[in-house]
Parts: sequence; C-alpha cells; structure tokens
Amino acid sequence: MITLKNVSKWYGHFQVLNECSTQVNKGEVVVVCGPSGSGKSTLIKTVNALEPIQQGSIEVNGIQLNDKKTNLAQLRAKVGMVFQHFELFPHLSIVENLTLAQIKVLQRNKEAAREKGLKLLSRVGLAVHAGKFPGQLSGGQQQRVAIARALCMDPVAMLFDEPTSALDPEMINEVLDVMVELAHEGMTMMVVTHEMGFARKVANRVIFMDEGRIVEDTRKEDFFANPRSERAKDFLAKILH
Ligand SMILES: Nc1ncnc2c1ncn2[C@@H]1O[C@H](COP(=O)(O)OP(=O)(O)OP(=O)(O)O)[C@@H](O)[C@H]1O
Ligand SMILES: [Mg+2]
Repeated sequence: MITLKNVSKWYGHFQVLNECSTQVNKGEVVVVCGPSGSGKSTLIKTVNALEPIQQGSIEVNGIQLNDKKTNLAQLRAKVGMVFQHFELFPHLSIVENLTLAQIKVLQRNKEAAREKGLKLLSRVGLAVHAGKFPGQLSGGQQQRVAIARALCMDPVAMLFDEPTSALDPEMINEVLDVMVELAHEGMTMMVVTHEMGFARKVANRVIFMDEGRIVEDTRKEDFFANPRSERAKDFLAKILH
C-alpha cells in the first residue's frame, strides 16, 4: 500500500530524512518511534505529499507521488491524516466538520455526506454530540471526531502523528481504543506514537528513527525483545520506565 525507496529530504543544508526505505502492506499497522527531532513527523508527512522530497520515491496505493501527473489533492483525500492537534473547524458543528470535505472534495451530496458523517460519528461513540461545536467537546472527543472525519473520506490508509500526546492521561485510552478497533478491522496504518502499549497490542512492525534514518524496521516482537541498535535499546529503556 505504501512504499518508500531511498527517500531523502533537506531543509536548506539540514538533512532531515536520510535514505529512508520501508514498505507498509495492505492491512498492516506500523508504529514509528524515535527521539524528538529524528524526522518521524516529516517522514509520515511525505507519505501524503504534505512535505516534498528531494531524492527517492514514494508510492501509495499504486500511485507515484513524484509523478507530475499525480493529482496530489485527490491522493491526500484518500490518505487520512490525524495530527496531535485536532484541527477541527471551530465555527462549524461536529456534523458540518464531518461533511465539509466529503462535499467539497468528493462531491458527495449533502444528504449522503451527512448520513456517512453520522454513521462514523456513532462508530467513535459520539453520535449524541453531532450538533455541538468542537469547543464543547473534550480533547479526547475532538480527536475521535478528527478520526471519524478522516474515515468519512474512505481512506485507503491512515496516518497518525502522535494523536494522543496532547491529551490528558484519562482521555488517551478512548482514542487508542478507536485506533485499535480500526487496526482490527484491517485498516492500513502508519502511527507515530510513543504509546508502546498500543504498539504491543496491534503493531505488525516497529520503525525506529534516529537523526533522519530508519535505524530499525522489524517485527514488533523483535523490536521489544531484541532491539539491535544501542540507540533503540536506550530509547526503549527510557520510555518503558
Ligand atoms: N519546516 C522546517 N524547517 C526547518 N527545519 C525543520 C522544519 N520542520 C522540521 N524541521 C527539523 O527537522 C527535524 C525533524 O523534525 P520532525 O518534526 O520530523 O521530528 P520528529 O521526530 O517528529 O520530532 P518530535 O518527536 O519532536 O515530534 C528537526 O530537527 C526539526 O527541527
Ligand atoms: Mg513529530
């Protein structure tokens, strides 16, 4: 579903991604972790072309991102992205937040979009909040709305960038539960997170990044039992305590 080959990227003289290669198969869940500044956010942003790359190639669902003929807006609509901050439109109701892109980007009619939005809202357990505004919901609830909004677009894959790290501790699990369910339903997912409980539960593989490189890309069992690099050992020791 997602293939990266020797992806390199620079900000000016600073190389933020260094020859990153990996592959995520359909239905696979890959957790991306590593120290702050190692390039995790940049890496997953390249997958839906939010960040251009200077070297290498990226293919998503058979579509080459660096091909000039590729319609990037259409591609982005098909790859759901959930950020740390939920970025719902504050002046729109929850149901309007869920229908806007369906209508504008997918040209669904209002009724169909609303039906889809409400269906996904109830799937994340928030049907009763359809008429409220984002400011009236908790952080965890807003993040679940953000996930529902991405799912409204019928994505072929979902990218998450630390979706729970801005949340109060008691709200983390309600968001992770939704993500675990998605994983069990077979969604292809790339998830930047330091929630190792989530990784243990649903990840197929773990990618560990350091200084713009993919240092480890292994089955989850191997990553936890037997990280190869010193850097990953060090990181795991810190994060698990
Ligand atoms: N727009 C930008 N311009 C210049 N440098 C940037 C830009 N965005 C990120 N960087 C730098 O690129 C490096 C990688 O950033 P990135 O956000 O991908 O790291 P990260 O692994 O997601 O870190 P964190 O865990 O803190 O979120 C950092 O050193 C950062 O300062
Ligand atoms: Mg980041």
